[in-house]
Amino acid sequence: MVATSPVRPDAPLHEAVARITGMLRDAGVPSPAADARWLVQGIAGVDPHRHPDTPLPRAALPALNDAVARRAAREPLQLILGTAPFRALELVCRPGVFVPRPETEIVAGLAVDVAQRVGSPAPIVAEPCTGTGAIACAIAAEVPGARVIATDRDPAAVHLARHNADRVRRGVAGPPGFARAATLTVQTGDLLDPLDPELRGHLDVLVANPPYLPADDRDSWAPEVAAHDPDTALVGGADGHEVVNALLTLAARWLAPGGTVILEIDERRGADVAGAARHAGLSSIEVARDLTGADRAIVARRPV
Ligand SMILES: C[S@@+](CC[C@H](N)C(=O)[O-])C[C@H]1O[C@@H](n2cnc3c(N)ncnc32)[C@H](O)[C@@H]1O
Repeated sequence: MVATSPVRPDAPLHEAVARITGMLRDAGVPSPAADARWLVQGIAGVDPHRHPDTPLPRAALPALNDAVARRAAREPLQLILGTAPFRALELVCRPGVFVPRPETEIVAGLAVDVAQRVGSPAPIVAEPCTGTGAIACAIAAEVPGARVIATDRDPAAVHLARHNADRVRRGVAGPPGFARAATLTVQTGDLLDPLDPELRGHLDVLVANPPYLPADDRDSWAPEVAAHDPDTALVGGADGHEVVNALLTLAARWLAPGGTVILEIDERRGADVAGAARHAGLSSIEVARDLTGADRAIVARRPV
């Protein structure tokens, strides 16, 4: 809890946002103005950009002060608010499970595009390392007929991904609900181990945002990451690429001929991963960039 109230009771929302922005800036939060706006909107339930002169509801003040103190202590915004936007969806976030990032929306979008073009009424998509279920939920919401199987070896992630999948299915996580005839199951286990062996050689898309950071990076992580994302969600072995390499090897075995693997990657390692994909026997290898121009994903196909 903060010692004093950062915002005076009944302050207009623009004043509340300005004061909170200053507090967050002083605490070293990287995007203080945006976070201040999201905190006010999330706690007060009113958009301060659209209603700048509306007074902050008195009843919201204690919760807002508490939320500001948590953000100033560098707790991720998504864990304070309990949700994260992801493409058209609003996903529930919980402590102990990796918070979905905006850059992963691009990876999910690549998978949606490929799955929509497969030409089958029921494209089969596997998403190991699902975390909150973000990528799998987006695909189930956007690809008619998709049969999506997600896995994670962390039971807390599986529990949360199932909860998010259920919210999407019921249409409470965003406007679309599940796309027509789409299905999504979430299973506990290592990478593709939980999948029905009969799917081997039949996956149309294998998409993942696996752990891909080297262990040596830990000292450079922002407090939001170091103290709140599980280490097992971030570190992909000593060199960072053990899980990426394992998935490329699995892709060569589990994809249907012509099927596509899409993996989020460390932006410093695009050329390395392209080489590993070649080594795994994949073809049509491309490194996709994100909106900042950084290498963000490897896209490759199992040869026909
Ligand atoms: C970087 S997070 C990505 C979560 C989610 N896909 C997203 O993009 O927000 C990686 C996830 O992979 C899971 N994980 C790590 N190693 C795994 C493995 N060998 N098999 C299955 N899941 C694994 C972690 O528990 C974590 O939830």
